Amino acid sequence: MGDKKRFTSSRKLDHLRICAEEEIESGDAGFGDIRIVHNALPECDMGTISLSTRFLSHHLSSPLFIAGMTGGHPGTKEANARLARIAERFGIGMGVGSQRAALENPELADTFSVVRDEAPHAFLVANLGAVQLRDHGIAWAEDAVEMIGADALAIHLNFLQEAIQPEGDHNAAGCLAAIEELCAGIRTPVIVKETGCGISAETARACWGAGVSAIDVGGWGGTSWAAVESVRADKSRRTEDRHLKSLGEDLTGWGIPTVVSLAEVLSTGSPVIASGGIRSGLDMAKCLALGADLCGMALPLLKPALTSDAALAERIEAIHRELTAVMFLSGAAQVSDLRKARLYVTGKTRGMIGRDDPDRSGR
Ligand SMILES: Cc1cc2nc3c(=O)[nH]c(=O)nc-3n(C[C@H](O)[C@H](O)[C@H](O)COP(=O)(O)O)c2cc1C
Repeated sequence: MGDKKRFTSSRKLDHLRICAEEEIESGDAGFGDIRIVHNALPECDMGTISLSTRFLSHHLSSPLFIAGMTGGHPGTKEANARLARIAERFGIGMGVGSQRAALENPELADTFSVVRDEAPHAFLVANLGAVQLRDHGIAWAEDAVEMIGADALAIHLNFLQEAIQPEGDHNAAGCLAAIEELCAGIRTPVIVKETGCGISAETARACWGAGVSAIDVGGWGGTSWAAVESVRADKSRRTEDRHLKSLGEDLTGWGIPTVVSLAEVLSTGSPVIASGGIRSGLDMAKCLALGADLCGMALPLLKPALTSDAALAERIEAIHRELTAVMFLSGAAQVSDLRKARLYVTGKTRGMIGRDDPDRSGR
């Protein structure tokens, strides 16, 4: 294996370890500013509440989506296998991490393809960076989809991380054109996703215009790649990387909070995946009430995914129990009813969404 390929792969393991062991969350995604109005007479039976939903013509048992995290190093295969077994068991969707390492070195393909082996029926999302798409074209995108038998392909935007990584791609020119070409040339639905800085209404319009099928907001307030890269720079033995530690720390505050990004993107179109700092069934309910189609979680599922199938199942059951209780207390017998729930929007989020209407926000 060449140095560059080995580096892409080992970086994947660094990221997993840092995310699992260090404090790398950015701040307040805005959920504290949203309150769903309590329904004191819900007129539905909590025992029959349905979490099932549809996304890109697929039936899912729940709007919880396992956001793409891993693969690309032999040490990540078991975590992907475990996440996939749970996706299959619960009937939920799942993404994989960037498949770049396996596209550079096919020996690593099984760290991704294991997800289809373990989840023959699940809605699976392949993953490729916008820069890799621009540089390698549709062929890489098709290979990524084929590698896991994907139902959709996520093109991730991570320019904050690129800006801080010593080895990062600092030239973002031509990525939108590459996404447009991809959407015109591939049959698999394309999702554009951010990875912790959020997507604005302007960027969302550009993406819909390019022909994407869905947007994942990947907002600020959860996993922060500025924080992750800052930790990596701190651990680096190369003195020339040291200044990147403070650059990462300084930029940990950069981004559009998830709730604000969700409102902005939903004002331009749908379907939309909310992600970034979603930590509970209550946070999920708030995203769904704002209009999200699915709710992606990464970090809260990482530690259980590194522990055991039972730990992961327990975590997902707890999230589902909380979402069900909140739906009951909102009088929502199904996910689509939650979208009709009334919301109070307060604080900074209200200021950023820029609407005075306390009844409904974001649309
Ligand atoms: C360990 C880890 C690795 C990740 N790797 C990728 C990746 O390769 N590609 C990608 O699009 N997003 C990646 N993400 C970002 C997540 O998909 C998600 O957008 C983001 O973490 C926000 O969710 P969270 O706050 O629940 O973690 C990763 C997240 C984590 C925690």
